[in-house]
Formats: sequence, structure tokens, C-alpha cells
Amino acid sequence: MRLSHTLFTAAAIAALSSTAFAQAQLPPLKVGLMLPATGTFAALGDMIERGFKLHVEEQGGKLGGRTIQYFKVDDESEPSKATDNVNKLIKRDNVDVIVGTVHSGVALAMARAAKDSGTLLIVPNAGADAITGPQCAPNIFRSSFSNWQPGYATGVVAAGKGYKRAMTITWNYAAGNETVKGFTEAFEKGGGKVIKDMSLPFPGVEFQPLLTEIAAQKPDVVFAFFAGGGAVKFVKDYDAAGLKKSIPLVGSGFLTDGTLEAQGASAQGLITALHYGDNIETPRNTAFRNKFAVANKVNPDVYALQGYDAAQMLAIGLASVKGDTSKKDALYAAMNKAQIDSPRGKFTLSPQRNPTQDFYVREVKGNYNVVTGVAVKALADPGRGCKP
Ligand code: BEZ
Repeated sequence: MRLSHTLFTAAAIAALSSTAFAQAQLPPLKVGLMLPATGTFAALGDMIERGFKLHVEEQGGKLGGRTIQYFKVDDESEPSKATDNVNKLIKRDNVDVIVGTVHSGVALAMARAAKDSGTLLIVPNAGADAITGPQCAPNIFRSSFSNWQPGYATGVVAAGKGYKRAMTITWNYAAGNETVKGFTEAFEKGGGKVIKDMSLPFPGVEFQPLLTEIAAQKPDVVFAFFAGGGAVKFVKDYDAAGLKKSIPLVGSGFLTDGTLEAQGASAQGLITALHYGDNIETPRNTAFRNKFAVANKVNPDVYALQGYDAAQMLAIGLASVKGDTSKKDALYAAMNKAQIDSPRGKFTLSPQRNPTQDFYVREVKGNYNVVTGVAVKALADPGRGCKP
């Protein structure tokens, strides 16, 4: 009895110290941040990085017991450079995981490269439906949304307000077109009709002819998808054209997120739908907002949140394999089945690895997107076309 106990203890100590030894041997985890640092989405990329790093710092600078080494590429929100840019991280820097990006067109190229190389990719914003649809792969995750989701949620809100005739306006690229599709699906299901879709090339801001067309058509409501610098200009131009007084403007929440100081009076009262809002009064969100503000001297927005949750998802996966990224199946399984304790509210991932989450109705008050209700609870992307 005594002998077997001694043997067991010795074996346990040996096993423990070999795990500790193996962990001590693991090199820093190479994290590739591919985000826009220039152009209309530059501020969005910056907030994602700040959010990601906040969670890493909360973990003592280590995930799964490994220190983090960052590699950065400015993707310029330029799809034509995306494959070359992502291959700098995959082939030159040999990163363990890529976190990126904001622009759907760039993210589609990143997803192709991640699928081909088997590199873990966590998308902290870009909503391109195909990423968790036909282009899905076990190593591709999203901490944000699919474009369909906020579009659909805003369509529910607009139909619920009794609007019947809508016009839509956006940039002509995957995010704009897919968000409009989601809006149209819900708005028409709710009894409305989209009478005209309008677009301009990304990242153009020549809104004037389109605003003239809106004034001529006089719809009950206008739905817009713009973000970053383009959203600032659009909201101000809509107001300056005198339309804000006569034709209600709604949008997926990117229209007013991270933009309110620059939009000023022109944004006041705008209604949007999104998976985050500034005043979610839970201890989890309050702690996140306070820590973020102290660390960055600025309030977080939805992009900071999505970066933070990308790090949370990675942390959960790495903890399950004690930092050993060669255990891919276990790593991905842990990430996929996790419940993420997000400041937005707890969420899970769909089988296609996209967040299933609540979408809030928000109203702009001062410099805040104030949550006034829930547009759709636990909205799951349909994941159309994903063959896991
Ligand atoms: C996108 O390209 O997917 C996107 C960009 C900014 C905000 C939301 C979505």
C-alpha cells in the first residue's frame, strides 16, 4: 500500500514536472495582426488592436502559458493587396494565429489563405457572409458578426416602426451589399418594401447625387451601411441636405459607432441596431469599459469589444491545450463549444463558428449609442453554404 502510494506520487510529480517543462519550452505565441492602419477604417483597426491587447494584459501578458509576440501588417482595406499581405504573416513570419480584419473584401482573401495553409484565423470585424458560409473551415472563427445579422436586425426594427417604403444606400462591396440583403429580408418579411437600392464605390464619399435621389423619391425611411470615416461624412451630409428632418435614417450600428464625436448634432436621435451598445449595465461591461478607458484614455466601441473577444476566444482555446497549438482539433473544439463571457452579453458560436448573439436597438444620445431594447434575441447567422 505504502509502496504503491510512493510510486503513484513519484509518477504524478514526474508527469506534472514534464508538463511544466514542456510549457516552459514553448516559444512565444506568434500573433499576426492584419488590420487597417490607414484609410477610412484606420480608427477601427486601432480599436480592435487595443481591445485584443487589453485582454492579453488581463491574462498577465500570456495566453495558454505562452508570452505573445506580435507581427503587424497594415492591410489598407485594399483587397487587391490582401493575398500578398496575409502571406507576409503566414509565409514570412510563420505566425501561429492571424487576427484580422475590418474590410470584408480583404477578409475573404485572408480566409482563402488561412484555409489553404491551415493557419488559425480569428476575424474580429469583417462580416463577409461567405467566411462562415461557403468558405468556412474548422480553423476560421469570427468574434464579430456576419453582414446578414445587423442588416436583418435593423430590418426588424424598421418594419416594427411601421415604415412601408424604404430606400437603401451603401458602398458597393460585400459588406454593403450583404447588409442591405439582410435588411431587405427582414423589412419585407415585416410588411415593408424596398423601393430602391443605391450604392457608390468603396470608399467613396460623393453622396450628393444619391441624396438628391432620396429627396426626390421621398421614402418612409432610409437604411444605410457605412462605417468609419465614410459614416461620419454620410451622416453629416444627410443632415446638411435637410433630409434628417423629413426622412428617418436608420442603419446597422456601424453608422454611429466610434464616430459620434465627429458626427456631433447630425447624429443625435439616429436609431441603429447592433450587437453592442454603450450603456449595457452589467458588471462585466462596466469593468470592460472602465479598464479600457483607463488603459487607452478613450471609451471603447464595438470594434474594441470585438478585438477583446477575439483574444478571449483564443485564450479559451489555448488554455485547453496548455498552449500547444499543434493540438489543432482540441484547440478548435474548445473554441467552438465555448460560451464567451463578453461585455456585450454571453454568446456562443454557431457550428459555422460565427457568434449567435442578441442584437440591440440603440438611439444616439450625446456621445453614446444608448440601448433602448432588444431587436432580435440570440440571432444566429443561417450559415448558408458551409459544409464543415
Ligand atoms: C466589413 O467590411 O465587413 C465591415 C466594415 C466596417 C464595419 C462593418 C463591416
